[in-house]
Amino acid sequence: MVLVGPMGVGKSTVGRLLAERLGVGYRDTDDDIVAAENRTIADIFVDEGEAAFRAVEKRAVRSALTGHDGVLALGGGAILDEDTRGLLAAQRVVYLSMDVEEAVRRTGLGAARPLLAVNPRKQWRELMEARRHLYEEVATAVVPTDGRTPEEVAEAALNAL
Ligand code: S3P
Repeated sequence: MVLVGPMGVGKSTVGRLLAERLGVGYRDTDDDIVAAENRTIADIFVDEGEAAFRAVEKRAVRSALTGHDGVLALGGGAILDEDTRGLLAAQRVVYLSMDVEEAVRRTGLGAARPLLAVNPRKQWRELMEARRHLYEEVATAVVPTDGRTPEEVAEAALNAL
């Protein structure tokens, strides 16, 4: 099962819960990238820019999708890549969604998240305008997370599949 959705929606927390419930492994492409590059995602953005990060991310997603059959959480922007979306067509993909206020509350000022560092609310809206349809395109199920605990979201994801 693959989890997609915006940063801060709880993919890692829910993903770990789901893996536990299903008795399978959990993997996160952001973690894979940090381990492979030996630096933080924020550092990759600062050092090389977003395009370079996306290229690294694309490789990480491809390798995680072929080498792992547990629960896999993708970074929020992974679905921007057309080839990645193509690969997801063969997967069970759960889109974890949330509204803008919940997003700003959960991600705070986005200090650790380079794409939300300046004006989180405005940047959030713009990100979602560009991405919402892509999340929906790859999703086999959409699970709203607003006002739900991670346990409730995991339960809803299991029921939705
Ligand atoms: C990003 C989301 C982040 C991380 C990077 C870019 C995005 O992952 O990959 O900061 O473009 O939405 P999470 O969704 O795991 O926070």
